[in-house]
Amino acid sequence: MATGNVVEVAGARALRGAPSLPGDKSISHRALLLALLADGRSAIKGASEGADVRTTAAVIERLGAQVQRLHDGALIVDSGGLGALRGGRDRRTLDCQNAGTTLRLLAGILAGVPGSWVLDGDASLRGRPMARVAEPLRAMGAGVGASATGTPPLQIEGRSPLRAIDWTPAVASAQVKSAILLAGLRAEGTTRVHEPTATRDHTERMLRARGVIVRSRPSEDGFGAITAIEGGQDVLPRDEAVPGDASAAAFWLVAGAAHPDAALGLTTVGTNPGRRGAIDLLVAMGASLEERAVLLAADDTGEPAADLRVRSAELHGIDIDPRLAAVAIDEIPVLAVAATQARGTTTFRGVGELRVKESDRLAGIVEGLTALGAKVSVAGDDVRVVGPTPLRGAALDGRGDHRLVMAFAVAGLLASGTTSITGAASAAISDPGFFSQLERIRS
Ligand code: S3P
Repeated sequence: MATGNVVEVAGARALRGAPSLPGDKSISHRALLLALLADGRSAIKGASEGADVRTTAAVIERLGAQVQRLHDGALIVDSGGLGALRGGRDRRTLDCQNAGTTLRLLAGILAGVPGSWVLDGDASLRGRPMARVAEPLRAMGAGVGASATGTPPLQIEGRSPLRAIDWTPAVASAQVKSAILLAGLRAEGTTRVHEPTATRDHTERMLRARGVIVRSRPSEDGFGAITAIEGGQDVLPRDEAVPGDASAAAFWLVAGAAHPDAALGLTTVGTNPGRRGAIDLLVAMGASLEERAVLLAADDTGEPAADLRVRSAELHGIDIDPRLAAVAIDEIPVLAVAATQARGTTTFRGVGELRVKESDRLAGIVEGLTALGAKVSVAGDDVRVVGPTPLRGAALDGRGDHRLVMAFAVAGLLASGTTSITGAASAAISDPGFFSQLERIRS
């Protein structure tokens, strides 16, 4: 993403209204990738219009699917299924741009398809760790080459059939779990992923909705999960209704909870147990948050959703177990903004994974919030915020990272004066409407 662009956010007197949300990014990526695997037509209603999901649409087109965007935003995907995948003979390069989910899930898909591909991305993606997917895929028999530092471009040599594996990922990652399960579809036998901390299970739910048997059970301590998939199953085409993005919702939830004069509503927010960490953590901090469960649509594919209302409240600091942080990993930058307004100390434990997201988010949080006057420190993999502190507008670098940019914009709403943020165009990675919604709800 271009990082030269600047947005100015003035402090808000009050926040009112109902910001609209983009379709869930994680679910939209998977809906496109699973539509590629299915022979036939799939319709995806409410898909994200963010740049990352457009990247996945472009990539599946390069692999041979046809994607049309209708006037109401629905995506129609026609695919000949796995057997019709293109590009394996000419070692086609697939540009995943800024999207880690696209690259890691595709690696799992292509590992089991004979042929060679190169998966590449922008400067940010070229800095992100891929050994976590390369190792299990190699253990399954695929050829996976990366740079000496284990980063993209990734060379994939697909093999069929793959060998089933039992794998315990070293980091809690839905992308790694999903890559292994998608490769497991092409393996002989049963592939199992043992997660010490359970992550979002969109892939599992969406595969089941497409006729694939995927078995999951919680681990003994209740925090983890064991997920098993039998190889050789077909993915069927189907229609999908995508809920509002829980991660995009978190920005408005924090704005509504931490601003002293706020009342905001959000409709049809995805509340998958692996995604609702920000809701539960804000409630634990004392937020006034009402949740009313709603059904997605007649063609619901098993994702829970809710309408949410949030209003101003006195927040207090909390100590967050690393296993809870894992289910709010994308929301931690904006939860740190909430913590600046909470009485006492908030500690986010075991969040070192933030160093290898679209940017080094740990460094970004400390630099940005400190410049605004907050008390933030990092010790090892823990982030500590002591509040409440009044925030004063400042010039911040969003590091071309959508989640930092939007977290800083929320901080700007809470701050006195004006906050200017460089790299603001990167908000369009996940929420192209973010800044227009922000101007709509403020006074
Ligand atoms: C995602 C999983 C998370 C998250 C990312 C989207 C997904 O990454 O940070 O934004 O769609 O599976 P990890 O699974 O690597 O933690």
